[in-house]
Amino acid sequence: ATAQHPNFMMQPEIKLPQLIDIKARGRFGCVWKAQLQDKFVAVKVFYVQDRQSWLNEQEVFNTELVHYHPNILNFIAAASRGVAVEAELWLITEFHELGSLADYLKTNTMSLPVALKFMETMATGLSFLHEDIPHREPHKGYKPAIAHRDFKSKNVLIRTDMTAVIADFGLAVKFVPGECAGENHGQVGTRRYMAPEILEGAINFQRDAFLRIDMYAFALVMWEIITRCSDSPGGATPTYLMPYELELGQHPTLDEMQALVIDQKSRPVVKDSWRQHEVIGILCETMEDCWDHDAEARSAGCVEERINHLHRRVLA
Ligand code: ADE
Repeated sequence: ATAQHPNFMMQPEIKLPQLIDIKARGRFGCVWKAQLQDKFVAVKVFYVQDRQSWLNEQEVFNTELVHYHPNILNFIAAASRGVAVEAELWLITEFHELGSLADYLKTNTMSLPVALKFMETMATGLSFLHEDIPHREPHKGYKPAIAHRDFKSKNVLIRTDMTAVIADFGLAVKFVPGECAGENHGQVGTRRYMAPEILEGAINFQRDAFLRIDMYAFALVMWEIITRCSDSPGGATPTYLMPYELELGQHPTLDEMQALVIDQKSRPVVKDSWRQHEVIGILCETMEDCWDHDAEARSAGCVEERINHLHRRVLA
């Protein structure tokens, strides 16, 4: 049998993959490269105390229509063995040899066409995730809007054709009309990528507020790409820096993030020379619209279209 979703627990005959080596570590656990029959897969092994992330991520992957979107990580199966402190919680997904965008940018630069293709496919994935797709035909299903809540370059993987794949749904929330979105308050996500309203500790967000929080993080990832784009005027930065790393270093505290992002309303440095470039200048405008202090001013809706338009212009 080949391993297809949904679930090992429903297909007990399917063998577990063999773990090969660790590819990434996060707050949730580790991601392994593994072998399942004749192909490589990724296995995310959760810490026992992160059972909720494991369940949450499965719930997102099991949302109708989320399967097999080209810019969303493809789910293969979930598995658990043992109980209590011995429990092992696995999530098996397709494997991407190039790893995450953050890893890639550390050791590579990108040409403008590649950067645009990457941004465009990343925007397509995020806008699909955000979209509320009505139940149009029988058996076609309904997809609620989903906010990612931990969007960052570490959570975007790269296919070998240099398109983007959004991963890590441990903190994601679904917004099904008439249903409570569950426990979704508080300062979750990665401090460095937190929008001002999250850093401020504002609570009780509605759906659109969560989507705008993702768009802010999306803008920071756009900035990371532009800094490593070899066609940016002045060339790529010699070394990769995370957003606000120049200002606050590797481990900013919450206080430091609040002072910089809320009080000083500071954002990553946008070089004047970038603005002079006919395409990168427009990317900078899009990026700045998406990281606006005023969440309601973030023009998230048409980002995908704007980048798509630029991409076609560069290819033409
Ligand atoms: N890092 C995190 N998830 C991954 C995956 N699915 N493939 C490759 N590297 C990863």
